[in-house]
Amino acid sequence: MKDAQPRTIYLKDYRAPDYWIDETHLTFDLQPDATLVESRLKVRRNLDQGNDLPKLVLDGVELELVSVAIDGQSLSADEYVLYDESLELPVSRPAFELQILTRIKPESNTSLEGLYLSNGMYCTQCEAEGFRKITFYPDRPDVMSRFTTKVIAPRSYPVLLSNGNDIERGELDNDRHFVTWQDPFPKPSYLFALVAGDLEHVDETFTTKNGREVKLQLFTEPRNIHKCDHAMRSLKHSMRWDEEVYGREYDLDIFMIVAVDHFNMGAMENKGLNIFNSSCVLASPETATDAAFQRIEAIVGHEYFHNWSGNRVTCRDWFQLSLKEGFTVFRDAEFSADMNSAAVKRIEDVVLLRASQFAEDAGPMAHPIRPESYMEISNFYTLTVYEKGAEVVRMIHNIVGKEAFRKGSDLYFDRHDGQAATCEDFVAAMEEASGKDLEQFRNWYNQAGTPLLEVSDSFDEQKSEYHLHVKQSCPPTPGQKEKQPFHIPFAIGLLDSAGKDIPLNAQGDTQLVLDVTQTEQTFSFDGVGERPLPSLLRGFSAPVKLRYDYSAEQLAFLMSHDSDGFNRWDAGQRLALLVLEDLQAAYRAGEQLVLDTRLADAYRAVLEADDLDLAVRAKMLELPAEQIIAESSDAIDAEAIIAARSFLKQALAEALEPQLSNWYTRLDVEKPYSPSSADIAERSLKNTCLAYLVLLQKPEYRTLANKQFAQSGNMTDCAAALAALVNSGDEVLSRSALDAFYEKWQEDPLVFDQWLAIQAGSARFGTLQRVRDLLEHPAFELTSPNKVRSVVGAFAMRNFTQFHAGEGEGFDFLADFVIRLDKVNPQIAARLVTPITRWRKYQSPMQEFMHASLARVMAAGNLSKDLYEVVSKGLA
Ligand code: PHE
Ligand code: ZN
Repeated sequence: MKDAQPRTIYLKDYRAPDYWIDETHLTFDLQPDATLVESRLKVRRNLDQGNDLPKLVLDGVELELVSVAIDGQSLSADEYVLYDESLELPVSRPAFELQILTRIKPESNTSLEGLYLSNGMYCTQCEAEGFRKITFYPDRPDVMSRFTTKVIAPRSYPVLLSNGNDIERGELDNDRHFVTWQDPFPKPSYLFALVAGDLEHVDETFTTKNGREVKLQLFTEPRNIHKCDHAMRSLKHSMRWDEEVYGREYDLDIFMIVAVDHFNMGAMENKGLNIFNSSCVLASPETATDAAFQRIEAIVGHEYFHNWSGNRVTCRDWFQLSLKEGFTVFRDAEFSADMNSAAVKRIEDVVLLRASQFAEDAGPMAHPIRPESYMEISNFYTLTVYEKGAEVVRMIHNIVGKEAFRKGSDLYFDRHDGQAATCEDFVAAMEEASGKDLEQFRNWYNQAGTPLLEVSDSFDEQKSEYHLHVKQSCPPTPGQKEKQPFHIPFAIGLLDSAGKDIPLNAQGDTQLVLDVTQTEQTFSFDGVGERPLPSLLRGFSAPVKLRYDYSAEQLAFLMSHDSDGFNRWDAGQRLALLVLEDLQAAYRAGEQLVLDTRLADAYRAVLEADDLDLAVRAKMLELPAEQIIAESSDAIDAEAIIAARSFLKQALAEALEPQLSNWYTRLDVEKPYSPSSADIAERSLKNTCLAYLVLLQKPEYRTLANKQFAQSGNMTDCAAALAALVNSGDEVLSRSALDAFYEKWQEDPLVFDQWLAIQAGSARFGTLQRVRDLLEHPAFELTSPNKVRSVVGAFAMRNFTQFHAGEGEGFDFLADFVIRLDKVNPQIAARLVTPITRWRKYQSPMQEFMHASLARVMAAGNLSKDLYEVVSKGLA
């Protein structure tokens, strides 16, 4: 029986475990409907907790208990207590061996947690609490154990994998065989993994800086074996990078990656055996876009870097999740920045933060990067814990400086190697190594919400003194009304009227990081000869909202003169937001919408500038996403946002046609595909131009798009052309292109997913009906998170225009879908419902429509813990 209302778990209730598990010996006898799991555990009382012998409580969910024995003595059913989600055992000795036999059904496991089948291959996902669906165990990250795993399967599953090194293999009766794996490093259960299947692999070796040879293996289904090169190359780059930048070396003789089609997240860092969503590992130029190539590099890096930040040093409890995720996202972001265009990587990360994390921080699920409570931990694998968590680590990096940061990370890894640590341990190591006081900085770990910096300035001509007045505040979030001021590293520069940086101190520095620590503060600069133009929050030095009353002219000036590349881009975003605000107001007043020529001029300057990196140029031509526009208003008027933005896009296309078409022609050259940043930049600018041009009702540009669609030799150009056609509103052309694409790619699930997502993401009318039709497509599977994301995710999370169209039909559709999905995959259902939990932010009547849909989900009853938590908090 499920509890009517799930229990809330609190950080303040943390207690060390009563028992340690020194050794874990597992034997799996794999069968789809009856897998036997034998577990032999060496259990020892944690004497720090006392000398008594309390009952041993093990976690276990949806398990069939076959037998239990202690030191070889079988227990009868009246000697233990079996609860819905745990098993309570009597203890009479401080150390003993526990033997448990359970039976599970991987074939009917659609939650994709625990042991399950994906296209006939066995795989596991144990983070955060999936191991308890495999066997009874203290399934908590502070219990670290040495694992030995014997995998038995029919010979039709030739590949049998688990963590560590394989120490024995052999044949068995009934056409079966086995492999035994031993992992020398103690680890928590969430890092356990097992894979069995008919897989092929590519092999490479990597020699570590100390000359150890490591075997690298990438496993996939045979049909995908040609798509592994990029991931393998990315893995080698990651291993080298972690040695060079963090001094971290790999520690086992073998490192394996397995691609699986059914996976809830991107990938998982299981010790020595990473398991990846196939969309985050497989790529070929014909089938994967540039974005996919870059995502693969980032995620391969991310999971590899976890070997130190997550595995060697793990988390004490799940409230500390950002300890490994925030740090590792920071590490992978720096890796990507080093491998590609650093400016573009930073822009993309800030866009993600502003479009999605800020909304989370302002919504009903808002939580600090170290949450204080949860019902279902799966709901806390969030943009806040990951992306804001990474920004918090970045701020530490900026406050203590590069060298002290490296010293701090060395100290952290040395001191806590083999331990389950806390966020506090990390900050303490940074503090110690740098000698900087991070006391107030710790508020970033405790307080939710996006701080607001309101900045004004004054200039005293007589004294040649310039003053920046900074006021910080943070809106209330659930359970946190009042906030203490944050320590905010605020990077700034001052520009003179020629656009040059003004020296800010005696050393001649032209950029300073101001320590904003009080609610209100004034910073003074002397020797400033003329009234300067401030360039604020350079490089997005803190995850905050910034308000300063820039004029359109000042923003245009910063766009072409700021020495900080990020702020040049950001000035363009701010200028577009100003213009979009005016357009929204005009729309509401029923006035005709007209293009602000200052924006057109600024964009023209971007197109014509000769010193701009192509990739940054492409980014500068992208209008802020609807979600970002929405974030900047107190009561979201979806209709006005959509009207304003689509008008502006169209008007810019008209105003800049010659320049856009010029760039397109210049970049429309045939050459073999390479995912190099130079080539990616060219494709990105070319396709940005194309997306504008097809909005003009001119046949020549449609023909251009059609030609690119038909002739391009890579998926980036092909998918961009297809999306352009689908968004152009030309029914005939877009239908025939979609059909051709389907004909060609229906057998490749990852490309089929793109076909789904392009349609579900179309800004043109009729999308909801199309989405309904796609769910009926024979190749759609409710059990595949990638398919669900490609249709329903693309519609509800990324298609602002169509999701908000009409009178809430999109919200109703989402509610119905989520209710249905919850029975199959609660984790994904809980994620997908998010858009309608933000109803409070909307104006009437959108707000009522959303609320009604959300209430309907709750009324459906019998919700999973995952969905219940998100919906109930959304209604509260
Ligand atoms: N720990 C994984 C990562 O960030 C994410 C993940 C969480 C995957 C839970 C599966 C389940 O690298
Ligand atoms: Zn991670």
